[in-house]
Amino acid sequence: MSALRFSDTISAALADGILVVTIDNAPVNALSADVRAGLMAALDHAEKDGAVKGVVLTGAGSTFIGGADIKEFGKLPVEPLLPDVISRIEAFSKPIAAAINGAALGGGLEVALACHRRHAAPSAKLGLPEVKLGIVPGAGGTQRLPRLIGIAAAIDVVASGRMVPASEALKLGIIDGVSGGALLADVIADIKVANAPSLRRTGHLSVRSETADAVDRAAADASRKARGQRAPSEAVRLIRLAATASLAEGLAEERRTFIELRDSEEAAALRHVFFAERAAGKVEGLEAVAPRKIETIGIVGTGLMGSGIAVSALNGGFRVIGVEQSAEAAEKGRDRIVGLLDKAVQSGRLDAAGREERVGRLTVTADMQQLTQAGIVIEAVFDDLIVKTELFQRLDTIVPAETILATNTSYLDPDAIAAATKLPERVVGLHFFSPAHIMRLLEVVNCKETAPDVLATALALAKRLGKLPIVSGVTEGFIGNSIFSAYRREGEYMLEDGASPQEIDAALEAYGFAMGPFAVFDMAGLEIAWARRKRQAATRDPSERYVVIADRLCEAGRFGQKAGRGWYAYPDGKKTVDPEVTAVIEAARAEKGILPKKFTAEEIVARLLKAMVDEGDTLLSRGIAARASDIDLVMINGYGFPSSKGGPMFAAGRR
Ligand code: 3HC
Repeated sequence: MSALRFSDTISAALADGILVVTIDNAPVNALSADVRAGLMAALDHAEKDGAVKGVVLTGAGSTFIGGADIKEFGKLPVEPLLPDVISRIEAFSKPIAAAINGAALGGGLEVALACHRRHAAPSAKLGLPEVKLGIVPGAGGTQRLPRLIGIAAAIDVVASGRMVPASEALKLGIIDGVSGGALLADVIADIKVANAPSLRRTGHLSVRSETADAVDRAAADASRKARGQRAPSEAVRLIRLAATASLAEGLAEERRTFIELRDSEEAAALRHVFFAERAAGKVEGLEAVAPRKIETIGIVGTGLMGSGIAVSALNGGFRVIGVEQSAEAAEKGRDRIVGLLDKAVQSGRLDAAGREERVGRLTVTADMQQLTQAGIVIEAVFDDLIVKTELFQRLDTIVPAETILATNTSYLDPDAIAAATKLPERVVGLHFFSPAHIMRLLEVVNCKETAPDVLATALALAKRLGKLPIVSGVTEGFIGNSIFSAYRREGEYMLEDGASPQEIDAALEAYGFAMGPFAVFDMAGLEIAWARRKRQAATRDPSERYVVIADRLCEAGRFGQKAGRGWYAYPDGKKTVDPEVTAVIEAARAEKGILPKKFTAEEIVARLLKAMVDEGDTLLSRGIAARASDIDLVMINGYGFPSSKGGPMFAAGRR
């Protein structure tokens, strides 16, 4: 066996006539210029060297290839270009196989599709996630995948961008085998016996015929899920083209579309979101701090929030001890948690065995002493300072000193809760969003006294729960609700200034929000915010502009959808403009002598965006948020800001 090196990231070794080419470009073996050049050099060598009878491509570490190098997007292209490398692989004169040792994504799967044979490790995941970056596959994915698995199945895989497990990839026909043991040895053995007739060049296959019905159904499904985003529908168009156009024509149209989308605003925004997610949860100075080992999570309060947190913890593989005030309440809490698991089974997200296994890790009790077993206790009780501080003081006397105490408060001051405990350094905020088992966003609140390893543990825990953790400093409403309050306030100012709720909602919906703010308030209910405004009335700065419209609606019992009326009326459940609301708004304007003016949709969006960005800048300058991209992620994942716009801070920078 002799070792060869073709570039910084590409090495190879000849074993028994087979050249095993390894891509080693940590962290995910992305197809950088050095990788592409190294692959070309390795192919040159393999072509010329008579001792090489076949080639196997594999990845170093736990990834095969994570895709094109996204960091290169927006820079001048450097040759060799990926489509050329891939065409060369497909046309290669000697057998060439992919040993897919881990994730094969985007350009990574496109490399594998061009190989003559493909085997994967059982843990490997395959996919073309380009649509999530606002682009389409740009190196043959939309043309080669349908040649292997048919148009309808390819539409499902490409337009969703989902990860396909190796076992499913085998069933679909994306790969030729799943290796039970030593992947490389299996692939080498397979390719050694491969001879010319058994080699399949994917691009030479014709697309198998399917009923128009199946294809139309897949396309309709994709278009419904795309919710107006361009990339999935373009992907569908290109895949359908594979049935009628030659490979060369299909590839040319795919490349043209890829470049056009790659250079679009939407793709720039989604790339920003991709890198923002990778940066989130990283705290300067915390890299070297080891998180504590947590196996059991205690949750006090198993209502709406607590039961969602419990399901999240069970899904994350933890043992869960839920605590309630009485045996009867514990029973109800347990039913709620198991009910959520049952729903997951009904919707196909969980199988019966998974449900049983989770239920086996769940205890719900009225006995608080059981929390001595927990590494962290999360409180999800009524959002009241006295209730929460008393609970933490009680926990102080029960759980060992190393148990972390986390508060799920939305608006209270966690520093005040911590200060009332014996060991404030073990207190951290974990602000889950409802429903907690579904929403990815988790604000991790770094309190004044939180110890570094407590924060590190909270962040590690969040990852295990499958959450997107964003670190926030302590301020009323943390990052999300601070910005949302500014957004809400500005929306109300605009009502007084002349816009209607429906105009504001329509403008925001056209911008990409699933729902405008007033429709959201109606859905969430108006009474909690009203109660807070009443509490704050005594301390409010009288010189600050205050809009009474929401108070007037609440005084009239218009608490939102559940009450059948709020900012809108809901006859037969259908949202309609209510003249009564218009009259309240007009009266409020008249009281202040405001002459209403007209706003365009563009002006509405600009004003609301500015309000969010101003508040975001304040949070950054106060050190409450560490980076602007964290604010973007909070607004996208917690408040419906369209990801295709990259979040308020990013969007403002593009105007
Ligand atoms: N290009 C450049 N950097 C990438 C990258 C890529 N394709 N994929 C991941 N990275 C970087 C991340 O930014 C992160 O960097 P950091 O450490 O500096 O923050 C690092 O690799 C590790 O990433 P993750 O934290 O996401 O690592 P995981 O182990 O959790 O996940 C993964 C690995 C599943 C490969 C995940 O990174 C992923 O999904 N990557 C993106 C896959 C993708 O979208 N590929 C398509 C690219 S577009 C394309 O291929 C176009 C083609 O059709 C022409």
